[in-house]
Order: sequence, then C-alpha cells, then structure tokens
Amino acid sequence: MVNGKCKTVLPFTIYHLPFTISFASLRETLSFAMKTILTTSPLEAAEFIKRGGTVAFPTETVYGLGANVFDARAVAKIFRAKMRPNDNPLIAHVGKIEDIKLLAAEINENARKFIDAFFPAPLTVVLPKSSEVPLIATANLQTIGVRMPRSDSALEFLKACKTPVVAPSANLSGKPSPTNWQAVFEDLNGRIDCILQGETMTEIGLESTVIDCTESLPLVLRSGAVTLEQLQKTVPETRVYRLKKDEPPKSPGLKHRHYSPRAEVVLISSKFKVQSSKSKAFIGLNSLEGKFDLIKICSSAEDYAHSVFDFFRQCDRQNIETIFCETIEEKGIGTALMDRLKRAAKS
Ligand code: TXA
Ligand code: MG
Repeated sequence: MVNGKCKTVLPFTIYHLPFTISFASLRETLSFAMKTILTTSPLEAAEFIKRGGTVAFPTETVYGLGANVFDARAVAKIFRAKMRPNDNPLIAHVGKIEDIKLLAAEINENARKFIDAFFPAPLTVVLPKSSEVPLIATANLQTIGVRMPRSDSALEFLKACKTPVVAPSANLSGKPSPTNWQAVFEDLNGRIDCILQGETMTEIGLESTVIDCTESLPLVLRSGAVTLEQLQKTVPETRVYRLKKDEPPKSPGLKHRHYSPRAEVVLISSKFKVQSSKSKAFIGLNSLEGKFDLIKICSSAEDYAHSVFDFFRQCDRQNIETIFCETIEEKGIGTALMDRLKRAAKS
C-alpha cells in the first residue's frame, strides 16, 4: 500500500486479494464478538444508548432494537446487527408526546387527532420528517414513523434515554419478531450492546398499526392492535393501503420477507384433515384431528396473536418441518394476525 492505494504489481495483487477478503470477514466476525449485557434496569440500558450503542427493549407489541435517532453511526449499527436491507425505514419511539416535534417537520390535523386520541399506543403515525433526523434512519424517505409505546418498561427506558430512539423489531431480518428476551438473545447475542429484560412475554405479540398521515387521506400501511374501525372513529376517511402493481410500496417493509420460521407455514381451516408424514405442529383456536409433534390451542384471537411468533420459534428449535395454522376471522386483532400468517406462509 502507498498512500492508501494498492500498487498495481500483478503478483502482489494476486496475493493481496484473498488476504483482503479474509481480513474483511475477520473484521466483520470480530466486530460482532461483542459482549451483550443483560439487565433488568432501564437506567443501565439507557446508558448504552447515550454512548452510541444498541439496546433491545420490550414494548407492548414486540421487542425493539434501539439506537439514538440523531446519531447516524449508532443507527447504522442496527442495520448491521439485524442484517436489515437498508431501504427499510425505522420507527422512532418517544417517551413523551412533546418529543414528536423533534422528529417531524409538521404535525397536520389528522396526525394530531390520532396522537391525541391514541398515544401512548401500539400505533405508528407517519409524518414528514424534520431535517435533524439523519436519512439513514428513514432509508432516504422524507417521512418518519413515530410511536409512543404504552408499556411501562418501554416508557421508563425511553425517558431515561433523553432522546427519541429508532427501533425496528429486535430479530434478525426476516425472522419472527421477538416477544421475549430469550428470542432476542437467540438472534442477536454478540451483535448488540444490551438487552433490557422484560419479566414476561410482550402483551400484544404483533407489531404496531402503521398509519400514513402525509397525504390528505390517512392510509393504514400495516394492521395491528389498533383497528381500522377504531381509527375511523377518529378520522372517518381513513382507508387501508392497497399495494399497486406498478408503484413502489408506500411502506418499504411490505416487499421484504417477513415473520418466517425455518419451517413451512401452511394455513388451514379447522375442518382440514392433515395427512403429511413430516414432523408437524399446529396452532389455532380449535383442536384438529391428527397427530402433531407440537400443539398450541389458543383461548382467543388475542391469545393466538400473543403466542404465534413464540410458537414459530419453538417449532424451529424442535426442527419441525411444517406448521399448520388455523385461519381465523379477519376482525379485531384477527386482521393483523391473518396478515402476518399470510406473509409467513408466502415466504
Ligand atoms: O410495534 C412495532 O412497530 C415494533 C416496536 C419495536 O415498536 N417495531 C417494528 O418495527 O415493528 P419494524 O422496523 O420491524 O417495522 C416497521 C415497519 C416496516 O414495515 C417499515 O417499512 C414501516 O414500518 N415504516 C417505517 N417508517 C416508515 C415510513 N416513513 N414510511 C412508510 N413505512 C414506514
Ligand atoms: Mg420487523
């Protein structure tokens, strides 16, 4: 090397090449041989955010993997740790409503109505972004998703961070979202600075409803525990976004592989007769004829939503080949659950 440039002497170039490749992969491996601290203290976890680190923390939906939104280097660590495609924007989380103005260039009337009616909630409102937010956080979009979670531990952690925190779900990209700290550990141990351990599984188990408020009609981009009917009570013109063939998706996350266990996911009705000889599992509301290696009968649609991602992970640990999931009515949390099941079955 001379002044950072390689001399173009052929034998050197040949010998350099494999060395360069192995050095890069060694560096990648070493940078992920991090010590991941486990803590139950929101204050201790917040210290890592203040120092430019990454922290997984529980919310009422799923665990998020957080970093200071205004620190582009810290945000980049999230994309690397999760192996997340860099065209998929992150949601910014606030511990108090006043902090939304640090993130958004403007809060229009519809957005204000949703914030007043629902926050703190499992709801993300997409707004025009402020110039202070680095483009890496929004994957180059001029908009930003903002959410104030309602779980006590998330709020305590976010307040202690003293800055809004961007946080996608704390799983490796494509895998089911984590609903307990053990699932975060399984995917991200050694790749992040800290896990804030919640005591139990997250309350809802599916990710937040995402609503785009940047145009005149609010559009639901992702279904969640806050339903279309509830949103329409606040702004009656609210509609569900439908992906059009020739347009890029409004929510870039829609085009990526999602929520997938290694096992094949098959959707069935409760009357289905399962005949596969492979190792198999079943989750649903009603028991089903047939022999399964793992079964979860849920007491309600809410219980099904709460349990499904953890069940997918259990199936992978037991090398189940096929997971049969009972379809349920698309109302209430059933809409969000069926959305996730259909995506998991597609990939
Ligand atoms: O419940 C949740 O929302 C969890 C917890 C941690 O808060 N977070 C979460 O983040 O699910 P993530 O990154 O896994 O999913 C965020 C979704 C993606 O589909 C992304 O494309 C979409 O929200 N999104 C984020 N910012 C957006 C924006 N500015 N415009 C459109 N879609 C956006
Ligand atoms: Mg996710």
